[in-house]
Amino acid sequence: MKDGLSTPVLAGAPEVSVVVPCYNERANVAPLVARLDAALGGIAWEAIFVDDDSPDGTAEAARAVGAADGRVRCIRRVGRRGLASAVIEGALASSARYVAVIDGDMQHDETRLPAMLAELRAGEADVVVGSRHVEGGGEAGLAGVYRQRLSHAGIRIAQHFLPPGLTDPMSGFFMLPRALFERLAPRLTGQGFKILVDLLLSAPAPLRVREVAYRFRSREAGESKLDVLVMAQFAGLLIDKQLHGLVPLRFLAFAAVGLIGVGVHLAVLTLAREGFTLHFALAQSLATIVAMVANFELNNRLTYRDQRLRGVRLWRGRALFMLVCGLGAIANIGIARMLYAENTTWSVAGAAGAVVGVVWNYAVSATLVWRGR
Ligand code: GDD
Ligand code: MN
Repeated sequence: MKDGLSTPVLAGAPEVSVVVPCYNERANVAPLVARLDAALGGIAWEAIFVDDDSPDGTAEAARAVGAADGRVRCIRRVGRRGLASAVIEGALASSARYVAVIDGDMQHDETRLPAMLAELRAGEADVVVGSRHVEGGGEAGLAGVYRQRLSHAGIRIAQHFLPPGLTDPMSGFFMLPRALFERLAPRLTGQGFKILVDLLLSAPAPLRVREVAYRFRSREAGESKLDVLVMAQFAGLLIDKQLHGLVPLRFLAFAAVGLIGVGVHLAVLTLAREGFTLHFALAQSLATIVAMVANFELNNRLTYRDQRLRGVRLWRGRALFMLVCGLGAIANIGIARMLYAENTTWSVAGAAGAVVGVVWNYAVSATLVWRGR
């Protein structure tokens, strides 16, 4: 070349892609890359940070590291949230032979990665899982007795559904061949925190799992994102897998929220009638509005947590939701009345109206209110 520089040689894909889901982990990005580099000597690797547009600038931190080190890439997802879905996207962006998943907060022990890779290279297992509960492992980093109890309860529940012998099914630290991940990807629920459980339950035939011990460290920077809703999502994942994905999980969540809404409605109605002796029509309208608002808030936080509306879109969504559910209520009453007029028992007529109402509300709000991006 004229300028004296030689043509760069483009290397093929690395052997291992380390997928790192991260949300508000800015301070952990560079130290984690340094640790991966130290741990993975002699192995061709890359790191794929998958950030959900964290306000703390995690994506910028990952890009800054990537600008100096081509092995580090970043996927920035806008308008979406979720650990499991972030892992799926990161793994599907890889061309490596193996995909490893590790938390972005350095609580997992990256020095165990070569041992995990060795198991896969030897063809001894389909999935290698980092476990806190085998000889040599530990969970000291799990903050507080409450978190530990919760974790043990979760493990016991998950073990009912999973092949025996897995001591740490809740682990978010594991490695598997990318080809296997690609095969399972279309079946994954992708909800919540527990992508490993999702993978294991999505396999048509039981997978051969090996565990490698590791000590769960305590967090140095940032904070945990696990909360009550994450646990509800875990229950949802197990239900979804038991139903073989026949009924959309979102529909179940939407219907459950609808049931809570009925409770809210009756409570407000009772209070308005008994407490404030309002006219029935007024009390009923008030109860309807309060129940709709409550349903909207719950759906926005739970059912559509990954696409939660905020700011201007929140107000637009609220208004649209009221409109959609208002029409749903009219359809509900219309159907029930028609059936009742045709001599159907009142309970059957009422239930049919309610089912039509909830299906309508679900279908229309899924396409208009939370329409994803
Ligand atoms: N992209 C993205 N989007 N990343 C997320 C999200 C999200 O919505 N929520 C959490 N993360 C990232 C965090 O930034 C962190 O890197 C990792 O996922 C784990 O989240 P934590 O909030 O630190 O979880 P934890 O410490 O309570 O539990 C973790 O460790 C357990 C023990 O192995 C989880 O990974 C569990 O799945 C795991 O079992
Ligand atoms: Mn953590």
